[in-house]
Amino acid sequence: MDNQQNHNKDLEGKIALVTGGTKGIGKAIAERLTKAGAQVIVSARNQPEESDTSNHFIVADLTQPAQVAKLTQEINEKFGGIDILINNVGGLTAPSGGFSALTDEDWESELQLNLLSGIRLDRALLPKMIEKKSGVVIHISSISGRQPLWNVNLAYAVSKAALNNYSKALAMELADKGVRVLTVSPGATKTPPMEKFIEDFAASSGIPAEQALKQLLSQTGGIPMGRMAEPEEVASLVHFLVSPAAAYLTGTIYSIDGGSLPVV
Ligand SMILES: NC(=O)c1ccc[n+]([C@@H]2O[C@H](COP(=O)([O-])OP(=O)(O)OC[C@H]3O[C@@H](n4cnc5c(N)ncnc54)[C@H](OP(=O)(O)O)[C@@H]3O)[C@@H](O)[C@H]2O)c1
Repeated sequence: MDNQQNHNKDLEGKIALVTGGTKGIGKAIAERLTKAGAQVIVSARNQPEESDTSNHFIVADLTQPAQVAKLTQEINEKFGGIDILINNVGGLTAPSGGFSALTDEDWESELQLNLLSGIRLDRALLPKMIEKKSGVVIHISSISGRQPLWNVNLAYAVSKAALNNYSKALAMELADKGVRVLTVSPGATKTPPMEKFIEDFAASSGIPAEQALKQLLSQTGGIPMGRMAEPEEVASLVHFLVSPAAAYLTGTIYSIDGGSLPVV
């Protein structure tokens, strides 16, 4: 899949928006779709230090409805809509420690970031895809959505589980309207927040980072392949899913986790 697609400009003529496309997984996706020939729009709260000049950058905090409206207006005015929407914004911000450690504010901010940001953007950008009877939407979820770790990421896992459910429902609603909707669920992926999360867990447990990683992974049965994913590996899957080669795929969740999720 990877080598063949690397030489393939199969997204030429397509316009893609990658939310949170300045760092980690989103950055790798933006780079990958650009190489495949797409015109890529990237959004984030902060302008990246080094930006890819072939991309169009729009500043927007997707937890703020007014900023989503502004982002949509700019896209519609400058590009007349998009063909590919990668809802990548998300992350773990709530504290660990189980149900009693989480306030209403923690729950609300985790749901805003991991669930409502995507729902809101879909609502704004889908009408033009439906009008054109063509488009692909990807929701970047997490294997935590199917495998909660109550003491580590309760609110995050719940918001990703809700995202999985919403994504499936949306796919069913749009299946006969020419718009495909898919979910990609990474396991542990080597990005700056993942590295920081491991460091913080190590500091709060008073153990070295390497041991903290082993401890965290052992709670989920470990990673059978013995390593975290590279962001580019997630991007490679996303590229395939948005490409014409995946024309019959909709409504499914793709885990990319080195074999971590211990379910059939
Ligand atoms: N890394 C992992 O191990 C892992 C595993 C499973 C799932 N995931 C999921 O993969 C996705 C990307 O994670 P990542 O680790 O690559 O994250 P990351 O490196 O922290 O990048 C997050 C991106 O989103 C932007 N962003 C954050 N909050 C935003 C907001 N409120 N509005 C607009 N943009 C915002 C950031 O830029 P600014 O800060 O400038 O806004 C950045 O571009 C998330 O949905 C995450 O839940 C990650």
